[in-house]
Amino acid sequence: MKKILTLLSLAFAAMTATAQVYLDPNAPIEERVQDALSRMTTHEKIKILHAQSKFTSAGVPRLGIRQLNMDDGPHGVREELEWNTWSVARWTNDSIVAFPSLTCLTATWNRDLSALYGHSVSEEFAFRGKDIMLGPGVNIQRTPMNGRAFEYMGEDPFLAGEMVVPYIQSAQKNGVACCLKHFVLNDQEIDRFNVNVNVSERAMREIYLFPFKRAVDKAHVYTIMGSYNLWNGDHCCHNDALLNGILKKEWGWDGALVSDWGGTTNTMQAAYGGLDIEMGTYTDGKVKEAQHGYSAYYLADPFEKLINEGKIPMEVLDEKAARVLRTIFRTSMNPQKVIGFQCSEAHYDACRQIGEEGIVLLKNEKGMLPLDASRYKRILVVGENATRSLTQGGGSSELKTLYDVSPWEAFNSQLSTANCQLTLAQGYKSGRSVYDHVDKVDSSINDSLRSAALEAAKQADLIIFVGGFNKNHKQDCENGDRESYDLPFGQSALISALAKIQPNLIIVTFGGNPYAMPWLPQAKALLHCWYLGSEAGDALANILTGKVNPSGKLPVTFAKRLEDYPYAKFGQEAYPGITDVKVPANSAGEVPHRQVYYKEDIYVGYRGFDKDKVQPLFPFGFGLSYTTFAYGKPTATVQGDNIVLSVAVTNTGKVAGKEVVQIYASAPANKSLPKPQKELKGFGKTRLLAPGESETLTITIPRSDLASWNESTHQWQVDGGTYTLSVAASAADVRQKVNVNIP
Ligand code: GLC
Repeated sequence: MKKILTLLSLAFAAMTATAQVYLDPNAPIEERVQDALSRMTTHEKIKILHAQSKFTSAGVPRLGIRQLNMDDGPHGVREELEWNTWSVARWTNDSIVAFPSLTCLTATWNRDLSALYGHSVSEEFAFRGKDIMLGPGVNIQRTPMNGRAFEYMGEDPFLAGEMVVPYIQSAQKNGVACCLKHFVLNDQEIDRFNVNVNVSERAMREIYLFPFKRAVDKAHVYTIMGSYNLWNGDHCCHNDALLNGILKKEWGWDGALVSDWGGTTNTMQAAYGGLDIEMGTYTDGKVKEAQHGYSAYYLADPFEKLINEGKIPMEVLDEKAARVLRTIFRTSMNPQKVIGFQCSEAHYDACRQIGEEGIVLLKNEKGMLPLDASRYKRILVVGENATRSLTQGGGSSELKTLYDVSPWEAFNSQLSTANCQLTLAQGYKSGRSVYDHVDKVDSSINDSLRSAALEAAKQADLIIFVGGFNKNHKQDCENGDRESYDLPFGQSALISALAKIQPNLIIVTFGGNPYAMPWLPQAKALLHCWYLGSEAGDALANILTGKVNPSGKLPVTFAKRLEDYPYAKFGQEAYPGITDVKVPANSAGEVPHRQVYYKEDIYVGYRGFDKDKVQPLFPFGFGLSYTTFAYGKPTATVQGDNIVLSVAVTNTGKVAGKEVVQIYASAPANKSLPKPQKELKGFGKTRLLAPGESETLTITIPRSDLASWNESTHQWQVDGGTYTLSVAASAADVRQKVNVNIP
């Protein structure tokens, strides 16, 4: 008896002693993971691999291991949805701050603001009890027709990579995991669930994978979302070559791969294709959700059955479960995870500051701006975006804000005075901002709105047009692409008509993509704002009045015409792809409905405009200021594995301002590995410089950043020789050059 008691107490002691490891917040995460794993049953391991509700995946209640709470999106915390449906839960305490769109953040070219953004938005996610935020997105803007470009970070992989890293670092420091998306090649919305992308290995590496690799290497992003589309015939949510081959083995990534909602299509592919958490299955419209509970998910009962029958080895399951546990211990069971804040003053300040620095001043004739309202008696504000909330709609990135400051409200508080009257004319009507409602614009309403605006214009001595896009379907909205390069709802015709009546015309546009500007010669000034979030009006008014000097630069090329984009010369095949091409089925028996061929290869954006010698309307990296800057003679030295470039920037104008300096590298010619004429390889932004003040920027370019992908060796390759570094204010405005020799 005594012996038994001793044995029992030993066993209990062993149990309780080891029980502390996975629950011990100070234990190394890998020990917590392995200890937890050793205690879990097969069924418990299976349960943490898939959704238990619309936006949560299970924990292990028996062991006190917490579930993972996820939510959209990149610009703020989505309003709470019901546990099991896409319907809103009608909470009264989930109104939040809508931060500017990520294209706006990228247009700031300010890494510090990216860190501020990630810190602020993750505090809102933490406050709402979320462990994983479903963003940011770094799909590449190869076409201006992509309906989701507003959520992403431009056309250049280096800029996207550099600007996403601080956001992720500071969010994850708060104990909130980012979920970088959509991995990979989700660069159009047309047929997003079943388009197979054909792209060269080199373009894959140098353009499309690049920002993701940057985030893995420099920000250690905790989770990544697989994309709906296919690559090499397999869905990216479970694609062995992409997820196991490149992401987990070659890059050594230790996080959890989350499927996009409804992106999982097969158990064996999910098991062996690198998927770790299956979310949203049957919510993609393919199969009605009602017929399937969460246990019917591909990684649920069907997977468990194959494990129990020994048809799939236990280590396949353990590998997935370990990655999910690692994510849990990094977030929901991370003692450093913050409580967070919601709608704090600091968040509104961050929102406004990012917006102010992301607005791009594209034209400013004869100092039209900054606007001195006292020079005008009657200012007419025309355009639906002067009053419309641009934080709702758009798809999964939609937000329920505590408040939005519209341009109209801000103009009224900042511009109107006793002798300067403001009036408003809607000018056009665009319909409701809903997820999949195709805009049926009632032309009779638009005719009357248009004539009212033209009538009002006769009384005005200044017109501020506030238009562009909104979050309606087939504009800036998930699950659809634009159908025209023009501004929608007859805006261009209206702008031209307004200009004939009153040439004092300032144009302000919102939107995620470039567009045609036939009226540009008639515009005295032009600002593009992307989407500015809750503080839109104040950020815009501060720029218009000169309270803040614009310093934004384009993260995407604005072409004169759609046909000028590099892919366009290759026709339908290059975008949006062609359907019903006969290809062999994949291992799940699937034949993709559409094939798209990225025929422009690495020549995306300015790389392509340079190669094709096509003049853009506004080049990549372009943006005006209310002051001017001079660039001193740069120096560049090779220090170990880095090139270190220094350049002095001087404010040569009359008002304080910030300048973004861009460094483009031109590699020595190599016939066997042709390179773009120039590629962005560094940038820096000055602090606010007073007139006459200088700052010397030091920009470090690691030698490895000069690498090109060699498709015959399947390796990165840095060619030795003389590189020319262009020190530029935009892709078309090189101020200085300096050569450096790379051994
Ligand atoms: C959507 C989007 C993805 C989003 C997810 C959850 O389909 O593609 O970006 O995070 O589903 O809403």
